[in-house]
Amino acid sequence: MDKIIIEGGRPIGGAVKISGAKNAALPIFAATILGDGVSRLANVPDLRDTRTIAKLIEELGAKVARDHGDEYTVDSSTITNYEAPYELVKTMRASCLALGPLVARLGRAKVSLPGGCAIGERPIDQHLKGLSALGADIELAHGYVDVKAPPKGLTGAHITMDMITVTGVMNIMMAATLAKGRTVIENAAREPEVLALGEYLIKMGANIEGAGTATITIEGVASLRSADIVIIPDRIEAATFMAAAAITGGSVTVTDMDAAMVGAVIDKLADCGCKVETLGADISVQAPEKLRSANISTAPYPGFPTDMQAQMMALMTIANGTSVIKETIFENRFMHVAELRRMGADISLGGNSATVLGVSHLSGAEVMATDLRASASLVLAGLAAEGETVISRVYHLDRGYEHLEEKFSRLGANIRRVKGEGG
Ligand code: EPZ
Repeated sequence: MDKIIIEGGRPIGGAVKISGAKNAALPIFAATILGDGVSRLANVPDLRDTRTIAKLIEELGAKVARDHGDEYTVDSSTITNYEAPYELVKTMRASCLALGPLVARLGRAKVSLPGGCAIGERPIDQHLKGLSALGADIELAHGYVDVKAPPKGLTGAHITMDMITVTGVMNIMMAATLAKGRTVIENAAREPEVLALGEYLIKMGANIEGAGTATITIEGVASLRSADIVIIPDRIEAATFMAAAAITGGSVTVTDMDAAMVGAVIDKLADCGCKVETLGADISVQAPEKLRSANISTAPYPGFPTDMQAQMMALMTIANGTSVIKETIFENRFMHVAELRRMGADISLGGNSATVLGVSHLSGAEVMATDLRASASLVLAGLAAEGETVISRVYHLDRGYEHLEEKFSRLGANIRRVKGEGG
C-alpha cells in the first residue's frame, strides 16, 4: 500500500485548479442509465470512486470510454442488466445511486446493500421509503435490496424525507423522472451536487423544479434522452486547499471555483483570522500570524460541511485557545482524532463533540489514514508539523482527491508518495 511522506513546517503558496466534484460525478454517472444513447461527461475527476462507478455502469451493459483524461463517453443504449454486484458495491457505497435510475428504466434494480463504512452505519432506509412511495416493491434478501416497479411503472407521490439525505434525494429524484404524474419531495437536501444532478436530468428532458432547494417537484415524462454535461468543481477539495493555506501560514488561490458553494467554510476561516478574497471564480486565502480558535457544528448545506470537519479540526489543533467541534451528521467521524493526538494534538472527545486545546505546534509522526476526509486532515497536519510525517493506507485519500500530492508539491510543499505493493 502506498504511503505519503511530508516534511512539514513550511508555508505553502500559489494557485491550484480545482478538479470536478466527486459527489456530482457519481450521481451523474448513475443518471446516464436513464438515457437512450451517448452522454459525454466532462471535467470528471480521476479518482478510485469515479473509476468504480464507471465500471458499475459497464457491468449494467453500457459502453464507457474515457477520453482525454477528464472526459468520459457513456453509451447507455445497451443497458439491460439490473443487478449491481457485491464485488463492486462493497468498495463504494455510492453504488446505491444505481437503484433509482435502474428501477425507473428497467423496472427492476437489484443492488448489494452498501453496508456501513468507517464513519457510520449509513443505512438507506430513506432511499427505500421514497422508492416504495413511488409504487416499487422492496425486498431485502441475501445482502441485496431487490426493487421492482409495478407492471405499469412507477407513479408520482408526495414524499417528506425523515432526515436530510443527499444520495437519498438523488435516488428518488432520478426514479421520479419517469414515474407517471407528479412527485413532490419535501425536506430535500440542498447540496450543490443535488442541483447539479437536477440540471443534468433537465438537460436529458426531465421536468424538474426546485432541485437544490428543500422542495423538489418532478413531473414524470415517458423517456429521457442522453445529454452532455460539465461536472461542477469540487467544493470539498477547494475547501481543503483553503484550509491548507491557513494551517501552514501560507497563501493559496483556488481557481475554477464558485465561492457560493463554500460560504460556510469562508466564514469559518475568516473567524480564525484568515483573509479571504473572492474574485470571479478564484478564492484567495491568506493565513494570519496565528490562527484563532473557533467552534464548529456540522450541518446539511448550506451549513458547515461534515466533509470538512476533520480538516478544520487539524487547523484548530494549533490555533490560539479552545475550539469545540460538533459532528451532527455521522455517528463515527472522529477517527482522525487518535492520529492527530500522535502528532501532539490535545483533543478530548465526548459524544459527538471534540474539544480541541490549541498547542504551539504539531510534530511529524507515522500515522494511518482511516477514511477519505480523515486522510486529508492528516495531510494538512503533516504540512504544518515540524519534522517528517508518514501517512499509510493512502488508498482512502485516492477515493476523493485527484493527484493531491502533486498539487501540494506545486504549492511548495515537501510531499511525496512512496509506492507500496497493492496500490
Ligand atoms: C453524501 O453521502 C456524500 N457522498 C458524503 O460525502 C457526505 O458526507 C454526505 O452526503 C453528507 O453531506 C456522496 O454524495 C457520494 P446522507 P450520503 O445520506 O448521501 C443518515 C465524502 O467524503 N441516513 O446525506 O450517503 C446517514 O447515516 C462523502 O465525499 C439515514 O439514516 O449521506 C447519515 O448519518 C462521505 N438513512 C445522514 O443521514 C438514509 O436512508 C446523512 O447521510 C440515508 C441517510
